[in-house]
Amino acid sequence: MSAHNDSAHNEPEPVDLSDPKLSRFEVYKEGLRRDDIEIIHYEPRFAKPGTKAEKRMERIVGGLFLFSGLFATLFVVAYIWWPWEYEGAATWRDPQTWYTPILGTTLGLSLLLFAVGVLTWAKKLLPVEELVQDRHDGGSSPEDRRIAEATVDGLVEDMGLKRRPFLVKAALLGAAPLGLAAVAPLGALLKDPGDMLTVTGWNAEKYNDGDPVQVMMRDGALVRPDMVSVGGQITVYPALDHGATNQFPTSPVLLIHLRAADAEILRGNLYPMYQDVDALWGNFVAYSKICTHVGCPTSLYEQQSQRLLCPCHQSQFNVVDNAAPIFGPATRHLPILPLDVDDDGVFIAKSDFLVPPGPAFWNRPSLPEEDEK
Ligand code: FES
Repeated sequence: MSAHNDSAHNEPEPVDLSDPKLSRFEVYKEGLRRDDIEIIHYEPRFAKPGTKAEKRMERIVGGLFLFSGLFATLFVVAYIWWPWEYEGAATWRDPQTWYTPILGTTLGLSLLLFAVGVLTWAKKLLPVEELVQDRHDGGSSPEDRRIAEATVDGLVEDMGLKRRPFLVKAALLGAAPLGLAAVAPLGALLKDPGDMLTVTGWNAEKYNDGDPVQVMMRDGALVRPDMVSVGGQITVYPALDHGATNQFPTSPVLLIHLRAADAEILRGNLYPMYQDVDALWGNFVAYSKICTHVGCPTSLYEQQSQRLLCPCHQSQFNVVDNAAPIFGPATRHLPILPLDVDDDGVFIAKSDFLVPPGPAFWNRPSLPEEDEK
C-alpha cells in the first residue's frame, strides 16, 4: 500500500459505500471522514511486504516473545521447585538465599520482554498513521458498523496477523507461560499452613518441653526488668535456638517499660482475656511487633502520645488501650504476650499469644473481646 497524505484544506469527498469496488482503505477512510477524523499521514512501515528488513524485524519481535515465555517458564519452575524453606542461618551459597531474587528476576524479565515485544511490534511493524479526531455523541448505524468492521479488518491486516504466523505463535508461546506465571502463586493456597500462623516461638509445649520460654535480645542476652528504663522499649525474641531468626517470623515482640501512670491507664483498659491471665508484669507490656496490616515491624514508639507507629503504611496503635488501631489501614490490635519473671529474674512468656499475631487470614480464630472495642 502506498503512502496517503491528506490535509485539512483538502477534505476527501464522500464516497458511496454500496460501491463494491471500494477498497478496504477507502471504506476505512470514509469511516474516518464521517467521524470527522482527518488522516494527516498514513504510510506502511515497509513499502513492500515480505522484505528482508521486515522479516528481520519479525524475528526480533518473535524472539522477544519467546524469551518472555522462557523466563515466565523459569519463574514457574523456580516457584514450584526451588528450595525456599528456612533451614538455619543461610549464606549466599545456600539455594534458599536466591529464591526471592530468582522469582523477581525471571518474572520481571518476562514482563519486560513481552512489553518490549508489543511496543516493538507497534513501533516497527504497524503502519505510520497520524489522525486528528473530533469527539461526538451518537449511536451506530448499519453503515457505521460496516465501517467499524472494515476498520478492525484493516487493523488485523496492518498488524499482519495473517501474514505473520510466526509472530502470532511466538506471542502466544510467550503469553501462555506468562499467564501461568500469573496464576501459579495461587497454588500456594492449596498447601495447608498447619499451625504456622497460630503458634509462635513463645509456645512452651511445642518448642521448650513445656517450660516457659525466656525472653532474649537479638544477641542472645536474656532480658531482665532492670535492662529497660522507664519509657524505654526493646525488641525481644524467644530464647530458643534461632529464636531471633526467620525460623520464628511471627515471634518478635516489643517490650515496653511504661511510666506508672500509663501502665495504670492500660490496666484499666485491658481486654478481659488479658486481665484473666494478668498479662502485664509490673509496668511492662509486651506487644507483638508484627503489624496486623501486612506484617511490617511496628517499631516506632512515641512515648509522649503512647502510640506505636508502623512505618510501612502509617498505622498507629494505642499503647495504653491494648494496642488498638487508631489510624491507618490496620484493623486489629497488636496482641499482647503475657509476661512474667522467673526465679532467675529473667522475663518469660506465660503462654503463647492469646490471639495469632500478624495480618488477618481467612480462618483466623477470633475472640469476642476483640470485637467489643
Ligand atoms: S504493614 Fe503496617 S501499616 Fe501496613
